[in-house]
Amino acid sequence: MSKLSPMRTVVGPGMNGPNAQLRFRMLRPTDNLRADHQVIALGARLLQAIADHVRTGAPLPADDTALVLRFLRDFVLAVHMRKEAEALWPAVAMRGDDACAGMVGELLRLHEEITTLTHSLVLFWEPIEPLSADEQRGFAETVDQVCARLARIAEIEEQCLFPACDASVPADDQLDWVQQFQQLEHERGGCQQWERSLQPLAARWPA
Ligand SMILES: [Fe+2]
Repeated sequence: MSKLSPMRTVVGPGMNGPNAQLRFRMLRPTDNLRADHQVIALGARLLQAIADHVRTGAPLPADDTALVLRFLRDFVLAVHMRKEAEALWPAVAMRGDDACAGMVGELLRLHEEITTLTHSLVLFWEPIEPLSADEQRGFAETVDQVCARLARIAEIEEQCLFPACDASVPADDQLDWVQQFQQLEHERGGCQQWERSLQPLAARWPA
């Protein structure tokens, strides 16, 4: 019997189930991370749309901003980037070629900056008074900085880290990642749950 719980549903009595290589291909960790990136791109687009609205002098839309910032803090940082910082980045730093391993340093710096910028945004998100013109500008510029860094991280990972992981990190080394990823998603919510939460905002903040 497989240790990987999702496979239990497709392996019936008397069946051996897929072999280890096939199981791995069906649950490849980089595909999980690529799926996260799709939802992160949606969240970043919404956050940027809210910032562009606030930049014009309009009041901060409190509920929508709160939801997108919660997504940034509770999913992007606490789930997605934990998966990458604890599993993917160290593995590629160790196993990937020099060019990709060298990119991990830039990813760590960007990660730290996004964490700090997110904390700044959370301060704006709970203002007691309406934002002043300076605060509105500061909010919008901070969002610009977060979104630029999210886009840069996704670019580095999709062009360099994910292909390097698929090519250089042995499947056996990645088998534990599947369960680690599932555990994080179970605790904080996975990308599909967050996509459902963000969809109503997509209608209010069209591209
Ligand atoms: Fe990522």
